[in-house]
Amino acid sequence: MGCLLDVHADDARVLARMAEDIRRGLTASPRQLPPKYFYDETGSALFERITELPEYYLTRAEDAILRDIAEDLARQLGPSDIVELGPGACRKVRWLLDALADGRDVRYVAMDVGREGLARAVGALADEYPHMHLHAVVADFERHLGCLPPPIGRRLVLFLGSTIGNFDPPARHALLAQVRRLLGSEGRFLLGVDLVKDRRVLEAAYDDAAGVTREFNRNILRVVNRAVDGDFVPEAWRHHSFYNTEASRIEMHLLAAAPQRVRLRALGLVLDFDVGDGIWTESSYKFTRESVSLMLGDAGLVLDEWQTDPEDHFGLALARPRERT
Ligand code: AVJ
Repeated sequence: MGCLLDVHADDARVLARMAEDIRRGLTASPRQLPPKYFYDETGSALFERITELPEYYLTRAEDAILRDIAEDLARQLGPSDIVELGPGACRKVRWLLDALADGRDVRYVAMDVGREGLARAVGALADEYPHMHLHAVVADFERHLGCLPPPIGRRLVLFLGSTIGNFDPPARHALLAQVRRLLGSEGRFLLGVDLVKDRRVLEAAYDDAAGVTREFNRNILRVVNRAVDGDFVPEAWRHHSFYNTEASRIEMHLLAAAPQRVRLRALGLVLDFDVGDGIWTESSYKFTRESVSLMLGDAGLVLDEWQTDPEDHFGLALARPRERT
């Protein structure tokens, strides 16, 4: 069937936006960087390694649920238009595609910011599912959801992997309200969330023994260096992560191991850090069935079905638009 590529986030605009995000984040208090910038080539490869770590249960747990429900989901919903936000390597959707027979008359639209990564992932799908209509949209789903083509038949929107955990409450409300609009009245939304659990399990998942998460965290400084001609020394930063119980989120920070001065030449910015000064690089929110149901409800969606893995580590929520009254 071939494969369509739409580019809404071209390199120049992405770079300009990124420079501005970096300037704003690193001059704010507390200093912070948006976690979407972890995923350059190196960061994406490090994340793939994280998903295979013994401590990082998320990917395996979600995969087990998806494998379990894919057949039922395909039969029950019969989607003809699957839209995935942030598909990464497009691994998660395969259970579903496999369950949809040979995929004739099914369109799969994948939206992600990294052009090369997305083209590679969707290209691999094209080889395996030659009858499917594949459409790669290079765009930032926080900005460009309006650029998606209108639904053809029943649409299923996928937002998997606990990516929603990176969004604080106002940002996820805005995103979910947009998703609601994408669905039309017949559409469905499948959302993957990591669940609140024993803090030791959570904290181990974000501070693995092999140190891959530390390298993933530090890599964002290399991304910053490249984007704004900076001279961060990643090795001079300690990885620090913990579960913030009140906020139900893992927080990842980088802490200066020694006093240092950092120049970001393209921004004309000089930053001084004392020992222990931090940069907040990620929040990863954890949910319960109740908090998911409330969050969906606030955005005009209704929780229809809820599945967890046998250990209750991860949840998949199937939602539908609330009927207008
Ligand atoms: C890709 C956002 C779901 O929050 O678990 C993994 C990223 N950060 N280890 C997560 C991540 C540190 C991951 N998400």
